[in-house]
Amino acid sequence: MSRRFYVIGNPIEHSLSPVIHAAFARETGIPIVYEKRLFAIEDFDGQLQQLLKTEKVSGANVTVPFKTKAYEASRTLSGRARRAGAVNTLSFRKDGQIVGDNTDGIGFVRDVKRLYGENLDKAHVLLLGAGGAARGLLAVLPEFVESVTVANRTEAKAVSLAREFGVFSCPLEGAYGSSWDIVVNATSASLNGAVPAVDKRVLSSASLCYDLMYSRVATPFMQQAQCAGCPNVHDGLGMLVEQAAESFRIWNGIRPTVEPVLFWLRATP
Ligand code: ATR
Repeated sequence: MSRRFYVIGNPIEHSLSPVIHAAFARETGIPIVYEKRLFAIEDFDGQLQQLLKTEKVSGANVTVPFKTKAYEASRTLSGRARRAGAVNTLSFRKDGQIVGDNTDGIGFVRDVKRLYGENLDKAHVLLLGAGGAARGLLAVLPEFVESVTVANRTEAKAVSLAREFGVFSCPLEGAYGSSWDIVVNATSASLNGAVPAVDKRVLSSASLCYDLMYSRVATPFMQQAQCAGCPNVHDGLGMLVEQAAESFRIWNGIRPTVEPVLFWLRATP
């Protein structure tokens, strides 16, 4: 019998996770049922308990705005989920235990490795933003690169986050002067059609500019980086597929290949 999984969020209609997991299931030959589930904003815990009471569910991905609630609902946490303070992958054990993991950071690292190349361990990374998305990356990224520096509109948040994760921080407007190999937009500025106020020379001299957001057309940050002259500008679709592949592995024990799915998603209108 196929095991059942959900992706839980609000809103959830836009989620690509069901088609990604369906493709992984076809590729690996592991039959799963994976569907979207809209939770009301209030009482994540109550709705989760109700779901587990009424259906036999093996696991769930959790997206905005419930990743912190999923963290709180987890009885057991992976190290990276504990560090991130957020959970995007829940496993429901037969004994009733809820196990929380966070696959966002490793999903980002795997996609960037593909785009940047094997020298990732020598890279100096400038991370723009100091919210939940930045935390997810900081839980994993520092062990894979030479250095990480956090810059944020509200500088005090960058300073405090950098201290917590043992990385560097610098003022957003003051990032020019050092040389960054990779600049990552982990702000939510794109949601409002805005861009972080970073000097365009920071973007033009980077080997890779990466926006955690993805969209059919270039995001405002991608346009900003392209206009600045960065030769290698990417959105976060690869990270989305990679984090899904890691969740699939946690649940099913096999890591699917991401490239065919990524290629297909890019080609599908
Ligand atoms: P998420 O979970 O997506 O990270 P969040 O926790 O609300 O969302 O964090 C949003 C981040 O985007 C913050 O770092 C925020 O900067 P502030 O701490 O100064 O609020 C950043 N951000 C949002 N809009 C921005 C903008 N127009 N320019 C620069 N940074 C912006």
